[in-house]
Amino acid sequence: MAKYEDYKRSAEFISEKIGARRPEVVIIAGSGLDTIGEKIDNPVKIKYGEIPGFPTSTVSYQKGELWCGEIEGKTVLLMNGRFHFYEGWDMNKIVYPIYVFKLMGIDKIIVSNASGAINRDFSVGQITAVYDHIKLCAESPVRGENIPELGKRFFEMQSVYDKEYIKIAKECAKELGFELKDAVYAYMTGPQYETTAEIKMLKTLGADVVGMSTVPEMIAASHCGMRGLCISVCTNMAAGISDENPDEDEVVVNARKARDHFVNLIVNVLKRI
Ligand code: HPA
Repeated sequence: MAKYEDYKRSAEFISEKIGARRPEVVIIAGSGLDTIGEKIDNPVKIKYGEIPGFPTSTVSYQKGELWCGEIEGKTVLLMNGRFHFYEGWDMNKIVYPIYVFKLMGIDKIIVSNASGAINRDFSVGQITAVYDHIKLCAESPVRGENIPELGKRFFEMQSVYDKEYIKIAKECAKELGFELKDAVYAYMTGPQYETTAEIKMLKTLGADVVGMSTVPEMIAASHCGMRGLCISVCTNMAAGISDENPDEDEVVVNARKARDHFVNLIVNVLKRI
């Protein structure tokens, strides 16, 4: 398990690389949604492998780089590629970067992901604001010895999907001409997609979308007191909701179709948070 000094060392390494820049917000780009990076003027790029203690991305279409620079005058850090439980990482390794960013003084996080739509009112391409989640797996990213400098042993999960940020994101979407729908995100660890029975169960439990990321990061963000916004793009209908099976290529293709809306949304939200 990482120690406080490990997080500190990683934070100092990144701070040194980015020089005088002081990022205020971290953005985690989900599958197919990484073109947000094109909005950063002259980003400083750091490969995950260079950063002491950082895991390295194993997902083929994710860059595995941390970018730093300005979008609309706001200095951001962009995680181009994230870590998933299905890649074999321990939960606490998945969230390692979140604590590093916190120690760099960042306390705002925007997370994005591709998801399967469970709610039949949604269709492929629907962009949603996640306002809550359901986690059925027993693992927690904060299991093990607590590091008091990072957060409390027991902490609430009511406010990490920040209500004010969701309101702002909805207003921005409206201005851009589309509707941002509310969603409860169900976390399934994958890599297998769900069975029809699992999706029926998740529907009964109140989930609107399902995916294999985000929840570990949001738990860590809540633990260390960050304000978060999660935008989920429905890239397919969940198993059994339509006749078609979820498919990895389709997920990336459909995420790419929705990404212009997504990128414009994030740019406008950044101006207001
Ligand atoms: N299930 C789980 N994760 C996903 C899906 C899905 O249907 N689509 C995109 N990520």
